[in-house]
Amino acid sequence: MANAYTKRKLSSRYPVDLPAWKNLVKHHRVDMRDRKLHELFSYDKKRAGKFGLGSGDLFLDYSKNHLNNTTQKLLTQLATQADVPAAIEAMFAGDKINKTEGRSVLHVALRAKIADTVALETPGVPQVWEVLTKMESFVDAVHSGEIKGCTGEKLSDIVNIGIGGSDLGPVMASHALRPYWKEGMCFHSVSNVDGTQLDDLTKKLNPETTLFVVCSKTFTTLETMTNAKAARAWVIDRLDELAVQYHFVAASTNHEAMDEFGIRTDYRFGFWDWVGGRYSLWSAVGLSLALVIGMEAFKAMLSGGRRMDLHFRQAPMDENMPVLLALIGIWYNNFFDAQSQAILPYDNRLDRFPAYLQQLQMESSGKSVRMDGIPVRCDTGMVIWGEAGSNAQHSFMQLLHQGTRLVPVDFILSKTSASATAQCEAQAEALMDGTYEKGLQPYRVHAGNKPSNTIHFDKLTPDVLGQLIALYEHKVFVEGVIWGIDSFDQWGVELGKKLASP
Ligand code: F6P
Repeated sequence: MANAYTKRKLSSRYPVDLPAWKNLVKHHRVDMRDRKLHELFSYDKKRAGKFGLGSGDLFLDYSKNHLNNTTQKLLTQLATQADVPAAIEAMFAGDKINKTEGRSVLHVALRAKIADTVALETPGVPQVWEVLTKMESFVDAVHSGEIKGCTGEKLSDIVNIGIGGSDLGPVMASHALRPYWKEGMCFHSVSNVDGTQLDDLTKKLNPETTLFVVCSKTFTTLETMTNAKAARAWVIDRLDELAVQYHFVAASTNHEAMDEFGIRTDYRFGFWDWVGGRYSLWSAVGLSLALVIGMEAFKAMLSGGRRMDLHFRQAPMDENMPVLLALIGIWYNNFFDAQSQAILPYDNRLDRFPAYLQQLQMESSGKSVRMDGIPVRCDTGMVIWGEAGSNAQHSFMQLLHQGTRLVPVDFILSKTSASATAQCEAQAEALMDGTYEKGLQPYRVHAGNKPSNTIHFDKLTPDVLGQLIALYEHKVFVEGVIWGIDSFDQWGVELGKKLASP
């Protein structure tokens, strides 16, 4: 069913023409551009408590930003005027909101319960739970030893072969959930085309206990196919041709190509064209992760994603965490002209989270035409970068503290470690307050006034990780709706692929 968002004629509307955008331009110039963050705190003693929002296990502290009640009101109006509420419903209803590819966008169905009725009439959606059950039987059988390698050895080394969304998700989540790895199971990954990763890995692997999970939505991606064929040759060389049937499984939508590679039908795990690569961790692309952490933990991650989906779908715009995060991003991007944003997780297990978000945000928002092909009239995606704290403090944080550029930060803090918490809070405070001691040499002065969000939680569990990923997925979507771009295509990377293909 087409709603206000899907029926919208893009050509008649640019975000910069919306009344709220115009009011924000004025509000920025008159009230906020030269206002210091510490002034905002001294005007409003209750600020720290006021600009904070909880959802599930996550808490977003957005008090250290260049915003006040008026900013929040105008930003929320922007979301409403840009039809964000209708866009959210259009996504959950299965409308073809990925217009340039003519596809629905339904990664939310992968973590839904049947009772949530997420686009059940869309082909593939009713099969979501069948694939999950098939994954569960497979994972359990590998763990129990019922499914073995060709020589009867237990399979314990899981190697994910994929790239982009077919690599970053499983890799990021396997690092994040390291304490949940089943005893004896080990996760490895191969993505790059130069062959060195596989080369180094096979030196220490025993083919008899190794299971390769070839992850590729298309099953044609050059890097993945090159690595998968090299792994296949290694298995054949060390074992025999028949061993391929025991040591390779695949997650893909391309059955013909899986036939050709020799993946047996019961070792195939399907998904659908409405699952974008960078949104695919929740699908069979998560198989390598599930094999290492077990289905219970994998399902807890799905359940965390669903909790954020319910919040996103139900919460009003001004109490909606992904919407607020997106609006704050737009505020710095389009009104303060920030060109990049740093993601600094204070939990080393989230060391690959910045890389994961780089694909999610930059592949989704790196667009300069709108869905109807007309050039945008404002900047779109910022450059996303980052590193786990406190490593970041001892490398690039100097530029954030004393450089000339505005780099808004998202701190992601797991409160499990007291010293990480102290470090993270100290950085957010130093960025905001700086130092104003009298007589200080200019090179020692921290001007402060640098904004940040802090997203914190007590412990990084599978459920919390699911909430965190879904939070950023929806944030990216909201930004795209406001800019009028298609956040779910990636035509920009196709040319390079074509030029490199033999
Ligand atoms: O080239 C970019 C891209 O299409 C990503 O969007 C995707 O995650 C990655 O390549 C891998 O694609 P596939 O899963 O089809 O191998």
